[in-house]
Amino acid sequence: MEKKRFYVTTPIYYPSGNPHIGHAYCTTLADVLARYKRMRHYEVYFLTGTDEHGQKIEKNAKAAGLSPKEYVDNIVAVFKKLWVALDISNDDFIRTTDERHVKTVQKIFSTMYKNDDIYLGKYEGWYCTPCESFWTDTQVGPDHLCPDCHRPVEKSTEECFFFKTKKYLDSVLKWYEKPNSIYPVNRKNEMINTFIKPGLEDLCVSRTSFSWGVPLLENEKHVSYVWLDALCNYISALGYGTDHDELYQKFWASEESEIVHIIGADITRFHTIYWPEFLTSIGARLPDRVFVHGLLMMKDGKMSKSKGNVVSPYPLIDRYGVDAVRYYLVREVVFGQDGQFTPEQFVERINMDLVNNLGNLVSRTVSMIQKYRGGIIPTFKSNVNPSLDKELEDLCFTTIKSYEAKEDDLHVTEGYIDVMNLLARANKYIEETTPWALAKDESKKENLDSVLAHLARVIFVGTKLLEPVLVHKSKEIFASLGLDEKETDYNNINNEHLLDGKTVHKDGVLFPRLDENKEVEYIKGLMGNNGK
Ligand code: MSP
Repeated sequence: MEKKRFYVTTPIYYPSGNPHIGHAYCTTLADVLARYKRMRHYEVYFLTGTDEHGQKIEKNAKAAGLSPKEYVDNIVAVFKKLWVALDISNDDFIRTTDERHVKTVQKIFSTMYKNDDIYLGKYEGWYCTPCESFWTDTQVGPDHLCPDCHRPVEKSTEECFFFKTKKYLDSVLKWYEKPNSIYPVNRKNEMINTFIKPGLEDLCVSRTSFSWGVPLLENEKHVSYVWLDALCNYISALGYGTDHDELYQKFWASEESEIVHIIGADITRFHTIYWPEFLTSIGARLPDRVFVHGLLMMKDGKMSKSKGNVVSPYPLIDRYGVDAVRYYLVREVVFGQDGQFTPEQFVERINMDLVNNLGNLVSRTVSMIQKYRGGIIPTFKSNVNPSLDKELEDLCFTTIKSYEAKEDDLHVTEGYIDVMNLLARANKYIEETTPWALAKDESKKENLDSVLAHLARVIFVGTKLLEPVLVHKSKEIFASLGLDEKETDYNNINNEHLLDGKTVHKDGVLFPRLDENKEVEYIKGLMGNNGK
């Protein structure tokens, strides 16, 4: 069944430090998907937010001399500002300190408790505060290090509520059998081999050693384990369990909705083992897809404040514009693989794709239409210049098809590579058809008309497909082709006559060329500056 609704989520971020380009990466990718689906006339709901409870936040706040709520309020404001600066089109922003969320977590916990999926016991083991994760003796080894982040863990013995993880394992494994439930598929195998085959231990879902969490109604000494609290955001934001659950019915409960969680590889276990189990316990359906993206790394490994290699997105947006930063994030790191941020590649990517390829094509084409045809785009005719026209026409159609297939399958980066290839082919077509020579020969009038009409069409198609990424520049390009907003609807993508007789306009330079040495130095100067 083709689904008509699309629910896409990012992880909810820890407001334990200011956002960096890695957070921007994940949210931008989710935004591009949301915008793509809206462009294809889906009903879309796009959620992001912040994960504000837990021992780590409580400790950070104390160190800063603030209450936990004051502490998170400050950082959440920076996250929200960044999403505005990056033109993120989220429909809601959920905070785990929102009352609506707290109530839902309590309700979900009570439902699980009533279903006999949770029991009171005693936890003895190891706790990693930065990861908010419990580990066994074998997992932490003789050095007592967290297997995820390799930092020292703390011995923990306390009363806690346990969730029966074996009870719903069948439901998880059945979900794994669906071809797209987890992507890339190696993540699924990793879950099976690392966690499921060795035997899942019951999960401790409450804490008593600190109080900055959702208080549990069953026992006032306990607050919810932060991961149970956090995962519930995906449905608490939709009004699950309240009298106003219209969004939940529409975007979660309904089989007509495609549910996609975008997450980083570091949190796969929570999203592909515990979250499906929690959902099964409360009788809710499971997501269609958990898409695990890679990390954006620095030359010397993971971004971290202590290494001083954190890049803040703000100065990049200020200097290069939001569209260039969005494009870089989408294109440079293939969605699903790890990538590396280097100033050299950042500058080169913008120069190569946006300045040389897209910018050049638009500026050359508009200039030629002005110079040779008084600014009027000639009527589109098929295959006037044998083989060359036909080849470009066919490439337009196949690019649209492959782009749609790739975006629908969440192969976001690959879809945009196809679009750039189409634009590069059109630049080459200019060299091959030599419009400046055709313009000198009156008998070649039809040939020149066709070249200009084909170029204008490729620009329209390429720009339309890039619109989810280039949210501002696409509008400028449409205006320079003489199109009004209604005419740029996706339904017109295959209309070869859309541009017949339109008047082109030229306004300034779309993407100014970056001086490589100067800009690389500038970006190097930013690295390590975690400010705004
Ligand atoms: N709060 C949890 C998630 C709860 S979701 C129910 C958490 N937060 S986090 O802030 O540490 O990171 C969340 C996500 O941010 C990662 O899963 C990943 O998607 C993204 N990234 C954080 N650093 C990143 C990079 N360096 N590169 C790419 N994405 C990065 O875990």
